[in-house]
Amino acid sequence: MFVARTVAELRAARHEAPGPIGFVPTMGYLHQGHMSLVQAARIDCATVVASIFVNPTQFATGEDFERYPRNETNDLALLEANGADLVLLPGVEEVYTPGDTTRIRVDALTEVLEGARRPGHFIGVATVVAKLFHIVQPDRAYFGQKDAQQLVVIRRMTRDLLLPVEVVGCPTVREPDGLACSSRNVYLTPEQRQQAVALSQSLRAAEAAFADGVRDPHTLRRLVRERIEAQPLAAIDYISLADASTLWELNADIEASALLSLAVGFGNTHLLDNTTLVP
Ligand code: PAJ
Repeated sequence: MFVARTVAELRAARHEAPGPIGFVPTMGYLHQGHMSLVQAARIDCATVVASIFVNPTQFATGEDFERYPRNETNDLALLEANGADLVLLPGVEEVYTPGDTTRIRVDALTEVLEGARRPGHFIGVATVVAKLFHIVQPDRAYFGQKDAQQLVVIRRMTRDLLLPVEVVGCPTVREPDGLACSSRNVYLTPEQRQQAVALSQSLRAAEAAFADGVRDPHTLRRLVRERIEAQPLAAIDYISLADASTLWELNADIEASALLSLAVGFGNTHLLDNTTLVP
């Protein structure tokens, strides 16, 4: 496994590598969720490239950029064990050349959910993913369904900018009790960690109701809300049931794929989870 710390090093190595090239962008502090993306790329592609870059432009002031968890040694060991061939681990000034002022903004899709909760967040995400795509020039790029809105935004950006990259969405990997794996789970106190299991449990309950024929979005949102509100340490940011492709909130009965997503704060830690309901 070759570790490139500059764009020039990555480009030189990529030039020699056999295709198809699969790419897994990450912010590090890797876990089984990230590894599932590397494994999916390993099955499909001759060369697997991963990046570790905590992207400053997707964090607002006051968010956790400075304290975002980092563990380079462990990350590289995990990537090597899971068959990555090339790792891009750039400094901030490699990706954002001094004086950099260009940004990519995906409209509409980014005004709701995480975009409303974190203004500017998706400008940072779209910009860095476009830069990384230009650096790595992958044939396929792998993203987790765990960050469902991010996946929708990146698919749109890739399509709108005519980037020759196939965006592949991969299922959410969970801890044994159902909590979605996340780099931010380490922030949780034992009590918060225990109560956080209500996120996935509420989604499973909504899936069961949906399977029983419940199509009313208000009923399904309420069912989730009641289960989260039963946890004293949980503060709901939002519970959304929206059209899976436009992300518009649903008011009428579900007739097409719907994204049921939630963000819940435990102290300063915000956890996300979601499921797709397909009629
Ligand atoms: P990060 O949070 O490190 O996640 C990197 C990738 O791993 C994303 O595609 C994310 O959806 C996926 N992922 C995270 N947890 C997962 C889980 N439990 N199961 C499956 N996949 C999971 O998302 C980012 O970084 C950044 O925004 C990035 C796209 C790298 C741009 O900076």
